[in-house]
Amino acid sequence: KGDPRLEAISEAIRVIPHFPKQGIMFQDITTLLLNHKVFKHTVDIFVDRYKNMDISVVAGIEARGFMFGPSIALAIGAKFVPLRKPGKLPGEVIYEAYELEYGEDCLEMHIGAVQQGEKAVVIDDLVATGGTLSAAIKLLERMGAEVVECACVIGLPEVKGQSRLDGKPLYILVEPR
Ligand code: PRP
Repeated sequence: KGDPRLEAISEAIRVIPHFPKQGIMFQDITTLLLNHKVFKHTVDIFVDRYKNMDISVVAGIEARGFMFGPSIALAIGAKFVPLRKPGKLPGEVIYEAYELEYGEDCLEMHIGAVQQGEKAVVIDDLVATGGTLSAAIKLLERMGAEVVECACVIGLPEVKGQSRLDGKPLYILVEPR
């Protein structure tokens, strides 16, 4: 609050009504990526927050966590670990299923990507119910990593009100307009 960069970030996100289906106000961060200044502000805010915390793992969630995570990882001197939808990672994986509005989905992580005791942050573009982030936390913890925080560009007010997710801190830059 009071940071003019947050206002710019909020304004750079395009809202597309009724995508991918009726009633959903889609928060489109591709327009934020088109604005290099605002894109950089977004990455900078996360980098400033995590740079001196001894974090060695940035885990990004497919697909839009991949658009922010690697830049943050490079800037703070951490590895980038992709958490992917089922069947995409070629090596041996562990997986966690999570509930969707209708049905369920699953995230996978390569075995050996993180070591016991490593400190991790999880990055995605948006948190709605928190189901996806929750699966990500479980994957990292099963491998012995310590999840310090989950961070998203956009947080729906329901989950933002919690400020924690499965007992982990949740860091959100803006709410949907
Ligand atoms: C969106 C978003 C998060 C997730 C948040 O991804 O990018 O990953 O939903 O929802 P939740 O907090 O209720 O779990 P989506 O399912 O659209 O997948 P995609 O990035 O592969 O398009």
